[in-house]
Amino acid sequence: MKKVAIYTGSGLLSSHSHTDKLSVQTLDSQLSVSAEDNLLDALISSGHEIEYQCRGGYCGACRTKVISGIVEYDEPPLAHLDSDEILPCCCRVKEALKLSVSLRKIDDSKQGNLFE
Ligand code: FES
Repeated sequence: MKKVAIYTGSGLLSSHSHTDKLSVQTLDSQLSVSAEDNLLDALISSGHEIEYQCRGGYCGACRTKVISGIVEYDEPPLAHLDSDEILPCCCRVKEALKLSVSLRKIDDSKQGNLFE
């Protein structure tokens, strides 16, 4: 399977694989993922606000700004990406990431009454 490395910050492309946990820092949280983890799933399960649809690199709905770090794709994604964007649905973390994504906001006024 062809690997495409995407450079998203200052530094060089990395082609080595990680088995250790890698840090993913967001605007208001931090999580650890392995290079084999799906980044979209990790962000959703940790409570982050992130759109998605196809989960295959086609639609671009999950497009996310990267502050620093490196990710890798098995296949070049079809969705257009600027040089500082990644698709968490189909990339793997290669080196520690800083992402411009926030935790979901909870509207306390709606809690407790599903019919308002
Ligand atoms: S969800 Fe469609 S490109 Fe990521």
